[in-house]
Amino acid sequence: MNVPHFMLKEIHQQPDVIRHQLDRTISIGIPDRINILACGTSLNAGLIGQFLFEQIAQIPTQVRSSSESLSAPLLETPNTITIAITQSGETADTIAALQQVQSKRVAITNGIDSTITRFADHTIYTNAGEEKSVAATKTFTSQIVLFYKLAFQIAHENQKLSDREFASHLESLKQIPQQMEKLLNENTIVELAQTLKETRDLIILGSGINTAIAVEGALKLKEATYTHAEGYAAGEFLHGPIALLDAEIPTLAIVTEDDSRIQKTIDRIRAHGNHVIEITAKSVPELFSPFLAVVALQLLAYHLATLRGIDVDRPRNIAKYLTT
Ligand code: BG6
Repeated sequence: MNVPHFMLKEIHQQPDVIRHQLDRTISIGIPDRINILACGTSLNAGLIGQFLFEQIAQIPTQVRSSSESLSAPLLETPNTITIAITQSGETADTIAALQQVQSKRVAITNGIDSTITRFADHTIYTNAGEEKSVAATKTFTSQIVLFYKLAFQIAHENQKLSDREFASHLESLKQIPQQMEKLLNENTIVELAQTLKETRDLIILGSGINTAIAVEGALKLKEATYTHAEGYAAGEFLHGPIALLDAEIPTLAIVTEDDSRIQKTIDRIRAHGNHVIEITAKSVPELFSPFLAVVALQLLAYHLATLRGIDVDRPRNIAKYLTT
């Protein structure tokens, strides 16, 4: 595919990145607790992991920013597994945080033979291929697809998912690349970017598993477009932050087929005369909707950045990863 920027090329590689993960069987045993350490986009992937490990596999899971965990380490039990997630495998804070850990250490990384692998008992590679754009896209998808597979595997071994449910979940994952390709071929996000060209502040709402996607979408918009975007859980947004809204601040809401909770917040925002744009991910069950919602927000960040003339592959002030 001939595309002008690595970010767009890498967004379009995501269906294949998922396809390559589908036939893998990965297992980390059955811990009694999971701790996740990461930074930036990898940290947001960690939030998806937490949701899946808790809701599907029913394993208590904590996520902490690597830098925070250096002064406030997560509690460990003898059967805890700590997962350090870093696309580069070179982020200094994540490496240092993993080194502090006493429990079994698993690294999830895209960096073959990267430094993090030296401090892990077990490494799972995301196999997304090199990501050149500073803003992470396909590596995020490759991280979350691994979390889906790990959570389903633990839940199956743990008897929280029956054979039938396990097979059906894996089948739903198989449908994602095709659904993603449909979305990648649509023009609606380009049109949305045009309407938001002058927007300096933006709210993104999700609920359930898509709260993490709202936060990740806001990070992508900050990194690539310098928009002051904030991601919130829809219900929580009503408890204070809604005071921010005026005619200048639009809200994007991730709406899924099975999720009626977000509607209440949308109705409240509209009742105050403020603008809500719905990003719908209704063609797949809610559990799998993050894959589509995140692609929509990545595309929005990309198109908004290019409309604003930003060098999208090399945004100001940030590096691909921080080694100090
Ligand atoms: C930051 C980058 O410095 O590092 C983010 O600007 C990235 O985009 C973060 O998500 C974490 O990187 P890694 O390689 O540990 O996943």
